[in-house]
Amino acid sequence: MYDNVDLTRVPQHVAIIMDGNGRWANARGLHRTQGHAAGEPALFDVIAGAREMGVKWLTAYTFSTENWSRDAFEVEFLMKFNVDLLERRRDELHADGIRIHFIGDRDDPRVPDDLRDRIAGAEALTVNNDVMHMVFAFNYGGRAEVVHAINKIAEKVAGGTLAPGDIDAVTVAHNLYLPDCPDPDLVIRTSGELRTSNYLLWEAAYSEYVFTPVLWPDFDRHTLADCIAEYQARHRRFGGAVDASDQSAPTTE
Ligand code: IPE
Ligand code: IPE
Ligand code: MG
Repeated sequence: MYDNVDLTRVPQHVAIIMDGNGRWANARGLHRTQGHAAGEPALFDVIAGAREMGVKWLTAYTFSTENWSRDAFEVEFLMKFNVDLLERRRDELHADGIRIHFIGDRDDPRVPDDLRDRIAGAEALTVNNDVMHMVFAFNYGGRAEVVHAINKIAEKVAGGTLAPGDIDAVTVAHNLYLPDCPDPDLVIRTSGELRTSNYLLWEAAYSEYVFTPVLWPDFDRHTLADCIAEYQARHRRFGGAVDASDQSAPTTE
């Protein structure tokens, strides 16, 4: 089924920027919101595929801190859509042993109360699951996440429990939204856009990026497998030197 993937070394954490819903809808003469609706089966096919391949953590960007700038109708649709989606899908995720997490600013007063309740309910329902972790990045911004971490750290310094000189990268990582989540190995962005759009700025420092022109509603477990195969062909160096066998010896002439 996943012939192009080496199932013995799948990335532990795959993070996805699900982009292109609006263009998918426009190309069919539909409203942008119908593109978002068409993105739901794509996401759930990808969740199933990730689980089958043995991916442990999957993060999906569902709404950015910048997406509030869209027109009120689209924003309202997306809020209602997220409520409905959690209502309809959480039991199925739970039955599959998937733990649901949310990262982002759920306490923002613009987030409807019923959505905040559903988020807390889905997290509580699935808290003991560990087959796979599904992280929804909702009202998420990488800069907001770092600011949030700085605020938490500043409170500890002000409270006298942390000395400024002891703050290091580990301190910052421990104060992110989901400190136990490993950094993403692979970040995928659909729709051909070549930017991060404020996604996982701290965590993706050494992630491999795969950009695909496929619009999100056309993405599925097989396109995910293709992206993982591309990732597996990469050589991650984390700042180290190219392996000696990859380079020719210097000439002395
Ligand atoms: C991604 O699709 C979904 C969200 C940002 C909520 P877009 O809505 O950004 O689709 P395009 O980029 O306009 O095609
Ligand atoms: C990023 O896509 C956010 C989500 C997929 C939720 P956008 O469509 O909002 O990003 P830009 O505006 O093209 O950078
Ligand atoms: Mg977009």
